[in-house]
Amino acid sequence: MNESLLLYGLGGAALAAALPRLKSRLELSLAKHPSLRGHAKMSRRMARFVPFYEYDDHECFRSDGAPEEVVAQRRAGFERLVELYRSRYPETLRRTREVEGMISDLQFTRAYRVPFQYSSFVRRHLGVGAFVQSSSGVQVTDLDGNAFYDLTGSYGVNAFGYDFYKECIDRGAARVHALGPVLGSYHPVVAYNATRLREISGLDEVSFHMSGTEAVMQAVRLARYHTRRSHLVRFCGAYHGWWGDVQPGVGNPTPAHETYTLKDMDGDALRVLRTRKDIACVLVNPLQGMHPNANAPSDSTLVDSGRSAGFDRAAYTEWLKKVRAVCTERGIVLIFDEVFVGFRLAPGGAQEYFGIKADMVTYGKTLGGGLPVGVLCGRKELMKRFRDDHPADICFARGTFNSHPYVMATMCEFLERLQTPELRRLYENLDQTWNDRADRLNQRLAAEGLPVKVANMSTVWTVSYTTPSRYNWMLQFYLRAEGIALSWVGTGRFIFSLDYQEADFLAVADRIVAAAQAMKRDGFWWADAALTNKAIKRRVLREMIATLLGRRKSRPGGDPSGDGVTRPDGLDKLAA
Ligand SMILES: Cc1ncc(COP(=O)(O)O)c(C=O)c1O
Repeated sequence: MNESLLLYGLGGAALAAALPRLKSRLELSLAKHPSLRGHAKMSRRMARFVPFYEYDDHECFRSDGAPEEVVAQRRAGFERLVELYRSRYPETLRRTREVEGMISDLQFTRAYRVPFQYSSFVRRHLGVGAFVQSSSGVQVTDLDGNAFYDLTGSYGVNAFGYDFYKECIDRGAARVHALGPVLGSYHPVVAYNATRLREISGLDEVSFHMSGTEAVMQAVRLARYHTRRSHLVRFCGAYHGWWGDVQPGVGNPTPAHETYTLKDMDGDALRVLRTRKDIACVLVNPLQGMHPNANAPSDSTLVDSGRSAGFDRAAYTEWLKKVRAVCTERGIVLIFDEVFVGFRLAPGGAQEYFGIKADMVTYGKTLGGGLPVGVLCGRKELMKRFRDDHPADICFARGTFNSHPYVMATMCEFLERLQTPELRRLYENLDQTWNDRADRLNQRLAAEGLPVKVANMSTVWTVSYTTPSRYNWMLQFYLRAEGIALSWVGTGRFIFSLDYQEADFLAVADRIVAAAQAMKRDGFWWADAALTNKAIKRRVLREMIATLLGRRKSRPGGDPSGDGVTRPDGLDKLAA
């Protein structure tokens, strides 16, 4: 009897001790987004099981079960595009083909331009040129002399127009010419940059790095050092560079054990921040306001028409206020990662735009005035890299090229110009201008009966598709044919520079409408009642399972080239 009492007692005590841990574990689970994106470890594991298979010529245009006349229409449209690319971009494509085998980045981006089932077929026939020779105004020109309206935004660097950055680089280089590439010591422009960045960020200290990724690494390292806590929190889908700890899921070969990926804009995430004791910092990429909990949109994942975006500034501001409050309450370092949005939404960055003060802010991209950079600004007590009372307990961060004179000089040019009335004018009614442009384009697209819709956060746009389709990714090729330059993520991201004038915008809008009309004419948006997004996903899943079970070849047969592409007659001639 006494023994059983003792056992019960011990069991009860063990349960009581385990309960808080169980509760905290449960809270963490609830705070994860239900998608695979929200479960980094699982998504990494699952990614290994996604089997490769691809469509041959026969399947490529009928993967949605379209009737034969539509398939023929698509094939003819595709062949027209191939011919157009071949005749219009010969030199650019020739040079691209020459280097493709040597440049790994190029191989990656060209493989991931469209969903993998179509990828080798498309890249064999519709190569996208990697070279441009010049830029002017809002256009770039390829090696064949074709001018394109630039919607790549150079990954967000180009906020004020390429001519602006050319001037920053020319004048900056002249400014530091006498010093040259002397590293370690500073050119006096560094003092100006630090002073201005303190004013802009409202924070005490500044450190200079070579990329946004590094600035984020340093912010997190310092937050861990000063809080003596292990974990960083990032919100589901948010990009913060390619360092392992901020990219815990697919793309990183090793697991990130000290990262929590929590639901964006959700009370469950706040509960975790309020209750866990191991959280050093929260990283916020304000661009996620456009698509909370979703990855940066890329056409390679446009399997169906499920992609959606929409920015609610008021709701996102409210959310950020709540995050700020809980971080303050719990001594968690709030880091705004403004590498992308800094200087694009407002001269004072996202802090100014949302009216919220962070403990640390990272900048990069455009701040370099056209040269590579990463910057971290932070509160004094968080930026310190050593402890007065323990001299060996340091938080190390160096970098050979930090504060490179040329980069510091172009940054100085950038920051000086940011104060000029000419630049300030670009921010006047910025949101209103770009919201209005997006609205007008959407009205035109709807009036034309085109299943295309744009959403925007100021000058950053995402395209979504309003009827179910497996071929939305084709729009990027029609857009290029209309003279629009897109980055490798295709229609996932249009990045306008703030200096786009109304006439330029109208020209781009005309081209977007023309591209969508051509794509519609060519039958790529055919749909019958059975073609729903769900049905498309089910079909893809069935194909994957069949591949896993060996019932479907991962590479179609009858393809002597071994690249999975059996060329249709017309395309064979074109490829010759
Ligand atoms: C929000 C954000 N953080 C960090 C980075 C990484 O910057 P970088 O590419 O300069 O390393 C990026 C790059 O796109 C970014 O958008």
